[in-house]
Amino acid sequence: MTGIAVLGSTNMDLVAYVARAPARGETVTGREFRTVPGGKGANQAVAAARAGGEVVMIGAVGDDVYGAALRAELEHSGVFTDLLHTAEGPSGTAHIVVDDEGGNAIVVIPGANSTMTALGSGETAAIGAADLLLLQLELPLSAVVEGARSARAQGVRTILTPSPVQLLPDELLDCVDLLIPNEHEAAALTGLSEPQAAAAVLLRHVPAVVITLGAKGCLYAARDGAPLHLPAPAVTAVDTTGAGDTFVGTLAVALGEGRPVPEALAWASSAAALCVQKPGASTSMPYRSEIDAA
Ligand code: RIB
Repeated sequence: MTGIAVLGSTNMDLVAYVARAPARGETVTGREFRTVPGGKGANQAVAAARAGGEVVMIGAVGDDVYGAALRAELEHSGVFTDLLHTAEGPSGTAHIVVDDEGGNAIVVIPGANSTMTALGSGETAAIGAADLLLLQLELPLSAVVEGARSARAQGVRTILTPSPVQLLPDELLDCVDLLIPNEHEAAALTGLSEPQAAAAVLLRHVPAVVITLGAKGCLYAARDGAPLHLPAPAVTAVDTTGAGDTFVGTLAVALGEGRPVPEALAWASSAAALCVQKPGASTSMPYRSEIDAA
């Protein structure tokens, strides 16, 4: 079993489903409201556990009703939560508008996630015991950098999802083995909107990159080989929230199992395609048997 540590966020997603997102100053009437457990870290943890990984979640929830629900959802999917701390105050929330094409816009209020500024000995040990460490940017950067450095020092491979996108310091990039931005994040990081060109720039800083391209699939590029474009399965999306996290969590499991990169990418793409066909983030993530069947 692939051992995966996730150092990342938990958010309760407050989702409004609406025909189209309102413009500035406009009020629109939506169709439905749902609360769904999410957060980029928790989503990746759930995706990896459902895909067959042994997953430990490192992060924080608040001492409110959302915190209990977020912990329960992780445990329900088989994620170890001993290092998911309960902080005083509210849990993280994400305020999401999903339109009729399945596209979304998200505002995150960090809440308890912002208390994760540093790691203790338990967190360091959990990272050292894993095969892979998954990182995103919804925790304070100090903890993300510390986690990445700890992984590097202990010989653990790291995957970073640079979202929400921000300037990445060298001390972080130096410890990243695989960077997985979406096309918008890749463009923001490099100033280049063409994915191959953006990947070439990112490869100056990290050994391998996957740029996810939504319905257009993904582009894999590594310093030691030719780039590979993999198309996505053609499906009708109802909600793309969490699709990128599903891709990352599933890909991590496949890579940890030693599968060849093209096969691992195809498996992760199938998982993401299953995710977008259901509403919500963690609730729409497929189990291993469903990915294999797809
Ligand atoms: O990547 C999707 C996630 O981003 C949502 O679940 C939301 O919580 C935000 O963190």
